[in-house]
Amino acid sequence: MKIAVIGCGYVGLVTGACLAEIGHHVVCTDNDEAKIHTLNAGKLPIYEAELDGIVARTRADGRLTFTANAGEAVRTGEAVFICVGTPPLETGDADLSAIDNVARLIATEARSSKLVIEKSTVPVQTGQQLKRALAVYGRHGGVEFQVVSNPEFLREGTAVLDFLYPDRIVVGVDNGEAEKKLREIYRPILDRSFKCPLPDAMRPKVPLPTLIVTTINSAELIKHASNSFLALKISYANALADLCERLNANVEEVTRAMGMDPRIGPQFLKAGLGFGGFCLPKDVQAFIRLAEKAGVDFTLLKEVERINKRRIDHYLEITRHALWVLKDKQIGMLGLAFKANTDDIRFAPAMDLIKRLLAEGAKIAAYDPEAMERTRALYPNLRYTKDEYAAAEGAEALMIVTEWTQFKQLDWERVYKAMARPLILDGRNLLDPAKMRGMGFEYHSVGRPE
Ligand code: UDX
Repeated sequence: MKIAVIGCGYVGLVTGACLAEIGHHVVCTDNDEAKIHTLNAGKLPIYEAELDGIVARTRADGRLTFTANAGEAVRTGEAVFICVGTPPLETGDADLSAIDNVARLIATEARSSKLVIEKSTVPVQTGQQLKRALAVYGRHGGVEFQVVSNPEFLREGTAVLDFLYPDRIVVGVDNGEAEKKLREIYRPILDRSFKCPLPDAMRPKVPLPTLIVTTINSAELIKHASNSFLALKISYANALADLCERLNANVEEVTRAMGMDPRIGPQFLKAGLGFGGFCLPKDVQAFIRLAEKAGVDFTLLKEVERINKRRIDHYLEITRHALWVLKDKQIGMLGLAFKANTDDIRFAPAMDLIKRLLAEGAKIAAYDPEAMERTRALYPNLRYTKDEYAAAEGAEALMIVTEWTQFKQLDWERVYKAMARPLILDGRNLLDPAKMRGMGFEYHSVGRPE
């Protein structure tokens, strides 16, 4: 099928490249011309595992193209995927202005009927507004639009695998014809007939995905409800961690045993610095606002948010307790990205931490395998180091802020020798406390006995 993708961010690029990979002809567009220029020069504006190979191959095959001419993209696609950003407004509501702009674009540029697929995360009932907008903006064109909701469940860092091997594909439709078209688009994924671009060892051994067909409103709600529930699990684990610290229990032991109950499940129970990134924090916020406006008491989610905000306060309390005064103290920071395997720093705990450490006069030397360039744009005056050891050099404390696996495998003897004071503040429970203390480090982590 000929498909247009509007928006070349994390979601749009992965969607466009993977749809081309499974056999469609895809044209991607973005209103940031520099991004299109970068993509046409064969480079990626973001880091996402496995994406570069897929983009390069599908471009070479001619199945994936990039254009700054959005009108042309819209006219080419029988189906148009909306993958633009919906960032939070001051109020916490999702900013839907980009969706409105895209509706105007599609309505005025289309010359034939289109299936309009809402992939961006939007509050429930946006599909209805989108339908209305397309009808109003396109009232002179005589073109028909069908709107469907098809939320993404892509995790940054494993987005390509999540797209190609999903556990479920949710489509919110209001007629059978739209459902048929979406089945056609996703058929190679549903019956797994596409040729896997990854080496055998990396291919997930998971069951075939289920296609879940719902109303448009339900599909929109599924996305917010899923992400808010994941956030709730994390905040629950973090509140448990506080309790464990007070009562001298070990949160890792508690959540491990809890997770073995299939009704609970092991994932998203990792205590630490809390959830960040561009999805969970904003989706929880938007969901709270949505419930408020609908007149439903969902204070449970406010508590989820409050617990999460407290994580940085708590970590700073641990830091102050260990270091006493922060002014002029040299701190090494390992990890800036909001989680491992991404260069994304949006709503990353590290950003909040840097701001507050600098405000107290601490000096930071930071290292991250992927996220230093992006952080430099926000904090040009931090010292960014060539590796982990250089960040530890002369430091009075070493903070572990992102759970990159490579931090686990450091030569800790070397780190020990490099530091001015061997103090580790492990915000992600990445290291083994007994081992670290055995080596002579003063070691603090989250929710584990001191
Ligand atoms: C999330 C959803 O998982 C995905 O389905 C949705 O489409 C987009 O939002 P992502 O933002 O990429 O994906 O990150 P995710 O892997 O879900 O992690 C979110 C945050 O929670 C990270 O900051 C992570 O460090 C934190 N986290 C996760 C924990 O603190 N503890 C955990 O146990 C799990």
